[in-house]
Amino acid sequence: MKDIAVIGVGYVGLVTGTCFADLGNRVVALDINAEKVAGLQRGEMPIYEPGLEEMVTRNVAAGRLRFTPSYPEALAEAEFVFIAVGTPSGVDGEADLKYLRAAAESIARAMTSPLIIVNKSTVPVGTGDWVADIIRSNQPKPIPFSVVSCPEFLREGSAIADFMSPARTVLGSLEREAADRVAQLHLPLRAPIVITDLRTAEMIKYASNAFLATKISFINEIANICEALGADIKEVAAGMGYDPRIGREMLQAGLGYGGSCFPKDVKALAYMAAEKGRHPQLLQAVMEINADRRRQLVDKLRGALGGLRGKTIGLLGLTFKPNTDDLREAPALEVAGQLLAEGARLRAYDPVGMPGATALMPQLEMTDNPYELAEGCDALVVATEWNEFKQLDLPRLKEAMRQPVIVDGRNMYDPSKMSELGFLYRAFGRGFEQEGAPAAEAAAR
Ligand SMILES: NC(=O)c1ccc[n+]([C@@H]2O[C@H](COP(=O)([O-])OP(=O)(O)OC[C@H]3O[C@@H](n4cnc5c(N)ncnc54)[C@H](O)[C@@H]3O)[C@@H](O)[C@H]2O)c1
Repeated sequence: MKDIAVIGVGYVGLVTGTCFADLGNRVVALDINAEKVAGLQRGEMPIYEPGLEEMVTRNVAAGRLRFTPSYPEALAEAEFVFIAVGTPSGVDGEADLKYLRAAAESIARAMTSPLIIVNKSTVPVGTGDWVADIIRSNQPKPIPFSVVSCPEFLREGSAIADFMSPARTVLGSLEREAADRVAQLHLPLRAPIVITDLRTAEMIKYASNAFLATKISFINEIANICEALGADIKEVAAGMGYDPRIGREMLQAGLGYGGSCFPKDVKALAYMAAEKGRHPQLLQAVMEINADRRRQLVDKLRGALGGLRGKTIGLLGLTFKPNTDDLREAPALEVAGQLLAEGARLRAYDPVGMPGATALMPQLEMTDNPYELAEGCDALVVATEWNEFKQLDLPRLKEAMRQPVIVDGRNMYDPSKMSELGFLYRAFGRGFEQEGAPAAEAAAR
């Protein structure tokens, strides 16, 4: 059993702290957001993540996990402090490190005994050294410490399973002994452990996310070509994915990537490259293709309806992917912004994302379920592939709509079945895109 402090109780920090507590460690999790801390102390989760609430409750009850807004309290017994604060995009695409700087300064001022400072936030290459400088220059008196980079690879929606069974643990430090001690903490996870230097560990995280984003943009480019040549991207991806050199993951064509990581991390890596005089041309293409996906969906919708002004569009799904409430860089919201700008009226339904989306986009008219959403809609847009959308009663949906038009940004449905049901169905890369006056075609059905 080790004493661990975790800084930041967001998607990464709360999962990290709770999982380390579940492994038998004593964890104090801290956040500067006093409301989040007070909520957690009352047993209320600040985020939606399957399985998390039950695990938090169990570990709090066992006395292994508690929450505080106080740095001195969090660090009083800690041997390790994990930093998991946000590193959003700055104005030019660079990672904004203001939260990390504040956390490092607070740690420096509050620490009273030697500490291993483990950085879980995704940070530009070289940040570990920068954090060490901040700690050194803000300590009231010198106390020994080490900095270790331990980038996080969990995915929202399956964060607990990802944390508990990672594909690998990456650790970077200039001090081998500190990295070994952090490695000990991770041994129960039984994953391969890569120990390297600080900068290399930081780079592994960016390179991994950039590669995954590249896979998504690649399959989206192939989907575009499929539409022009009459091939089906779903079968192309399946056929490709059996090759172990390619793999099946991240080959779903559609609206493109979103969320709190891929968009900002690809941008930040491109920024780091450009700042050092390198030309990140592949990363630029990945970002361009991804931005085009949202525009293409709006184009398909405009084409299907013969214009968007005054049309009522229903958004099926708002979060950037299923099983999370995270709306950061959600494709649905980007599409919604473009549709509103063209004069459409928007309704929406999402199993968990509606409260957050209402705060961000009050123009969205929220509904209680997909059937209520469909009422009076000229078209529906599938923006998030929630499980509950897979088995919808499609004839009932059609009955409720003003026009039977579905633009499927996640390729969830079978085009021939949708056509049989009388929908005008548009997806991404599923054979020849039909031309003509589709709204009239749909009305005639
Ligand atoms: N979300 C993911 O799926 C994921 C996966 C891997 C890596 N990451 C990386 O992990 C980091 C955290 O991401 P997240 O999604 O958990 O962020 P988040 O925004 O959900 O949470 C960050 C938390 O840090 C708190 N905070 C900010 N400044 C603080 C300070 N000075 N002291 C204490 N708390 C402070 C905020 O109040 C917030 O609760 C980012 O660098 C991200 O890129 C995220």
